[in-house]
Amino acid sequence: MPEFKVDARGAIEIWTIDGESRRNAVSRAMLRELGEMVTRVSTGRQVRAVIVTGAGDKAFCAGADLKERAGMSEDDVRAFLDGLRVTLRAVEQSDCVFIAALNGAALGGGTELALACDLRVAAPAAELGLTEVKLGIIPGGGGTQRLTRLIGPGRAKDLILTARRLNAAEAFSIGLVNRLAPEGHLLEVAFQLAEAVVVNAPIAVSTAKHAIDEGLGLELGDALALELRKYEEVLKTEDRLEGLRAFAEKRAPVYQGR
Ligand code: COA
Repeated sequence: MPEFKVDARGAIEIWTIDGESRRNAVSRAMLRELGEMVTRVSTGRQVRAVIVTGAGDKAFCAGADLKERAGMSEDDVRAFLDGLRVTLRAVEQSDCVFIAALNGAALGGGTELALACDLRVAAPAAELGLTEVKLGIIPGGGGTQRLTRLIGPGRAKDLILTARRLNAAEAFSIGLVNRLAPEGHLLEVAFQLAEAVVVNAPIAVSTAKHAIDEGLGLELGDALALELRKYEEVLKTEDRLEGLRAFAEKRAPVYQGR
């Protein structure tokens, strides 16, 4: 049985974690399939944005599959974590733009999956939290690092050390989610966001994504030098010339990703 439902709509795909009865928790099978799908869209050039969401209205993803975890040895847990870390890094490093559409609870690995995405949209009932310390562990899918980079160490410690869950409105107020969707309109808002991305020049979008991510850990001078190197990559593109032509001709640009 596939772990995801895939809805392909041109340059945008919607991936729905299809595990409502376990609240879309991350099992080994789900993680394997996620990894394969990330590789598929990252190596092909057709899909430019992916919306990741969960089946049902209770959970986006309830983190690691704790029933599966109960039967794992320490080595099994290490292997699972390796897979999780590699897969979330692949999401982050993909040329595709990933949007998490948070339809319900995103806890532990669920929040970590959302953090590895480029953008986050939340339904009113969404809840986020890195609740691992409640279970005697720490976030192991990059949560301590990605949350801190996104919202700063003070807020990250408030959330991680207390294992507190926060609602969509609070997540929005601290920049943890980018958009709040009205009740019943989550996928519509996520799709509009994806469309606003894919209408732009493909190489420019992916290059800007990588410039932001790769510059985060650098000292400002090095980060600015990185931006200049990234600019060189778009300077050579046909799309840049198309952008200028379209502006002069007062029409919408038609980008080829070249
Ligand atoms: N792994 C495996 N199964 C899970 C799960 C998880 N992370 N989270 C929930 N489930 C299962 C429950 O065991 C239950 O299964 P059952 O029907 O066989 O008893 C089913 O999903 C429904 O769970 P329930 O808690 O009744 O659903 P809910 O809609 O009331 O609440 C959550 C949903 C996600 C808020 C709640 O299940 C929860 O808090 N889960 C644990 C999240 C967590 O701590 N994750 C790990 C962080 S490190």
